[in-house]
Amino acid sequence: MSSTHTGAEAPAAPAAPVAFRELLPSPGGRDVDLAAAYAYPADLDRPWVRANMVASADGGAVGPSGRSRDLSSVPDRRIMGALRALCDVVLVGAATARVEGYGPVRVRRAWEGLRAGRARTPAVAVVSRSLDLPADLLTGAPPDARTLVFTTDGSPERRRREVAEHADLVVVEGASVTPAHVVDGLAERGLHRVLTEGGPHLLAEFVAAGLLDELCLTLSPHLLGPGSPRIVAGGAQAPGAPESASAQSTPVRMAHLLEAEGSLFARYVRG
Ligand SMILES: NC(=O)c1ccc[n+]([C@@H]2O[C@H](COP(=O)([O-])OP(=O)(O)OC[C@H]3O[C@@H](n4cnc5c(N)ncnc54)[C@H](OP(=O)(O)O)[C@@H]3O)[C@@H](O)[C@H]2O)c1
Repeated sequence: MSSTHTGAEAPAAPAAPVAFRELLPSPGGRDVDLAAAYAYPADLDRPWVRANMVASADGGAVGPSGRSRDLSSVPDRRIMGALRALCDVVLVGAATARVEGYGPVRVRRAWEGLRAGRARTPAVAVVSRSLDLPADLLTGAPPDARTLVFTTDGSPERRRREVAEHADLVVVEGASVTPAHVVDGLAERGLHRVLTEGGPHLLAEFVAAGLLDELCLTLSPHLLGPGSPRIVAGGAQAPGAPESASAQSTPVRMAHLLEAEGSLFARYVRG
């Protein structure tokens, strides 16, 4: 298993025992069934976009290593493994793919039952203007879970041709791939159980577009201080709002709160 929150997960390492305690909605519950606790809504007829992110106790998303690995832990990686096994597609921004060294996702043997009737591994979808992507992410994906790349018509043409040799390439007109483009592209392919693993810039675009359905947030017992970005970055402010104000406030409901080894695992669902 990778030591990062977001990188590819190795399949063979023996799983360390982890006890998750449910704090909400039923305090004291132990031995939480992660597959049940994080099941996607049944019978989805459109993509459901779930994010899985980790933050420090003071709200930082990137540690001294420049990655989120400083915040991760055995229980956090256990939940990440379950979420990956449950999803149809893992969606990331290209910077996260580069920094975290993304390759094709692998699913632990313990979770293989969750893949019944689907490809053995979820596909990875990546959003990029530059098409500067890790080679293994393009060439290493299995044929039934090819990597899906969303880019704009302003991306380098030669790179588009190279990427299209190995991956499914979706080229949209204009300066940006919008979250709606991504959701439509995934819907066309029947990829309804979406797991985005960030990064903060891509996640901010989904929040701003009102297209994030769920946030799975690990609160990690660390303090990172003011130098670290939050789990959302960039984005617009409300016109005329004070400099520190947000452009929006979307209510979410806490579906559950788990604890293991001092980390909290909250599942928030929109509306
Ligand atoms: N705490 C956590 O849970 C967590 C999770 C993930 C990542 N991270 C950390 O966050 C950092 C990376 O995240 P980030 O926010 O900087 O970047 P990011 O959101 O992962 O990726 C940004 C990149 O995605 C592409 N992109 C995003 N929106 C686009 C759009 N609308 N149209 C076309 N392309 C678009 C562009 O790629 P190109 O540059 O290729 O054009 C852009 O530079 C790393 O340090 C990583 O370790 C933390």
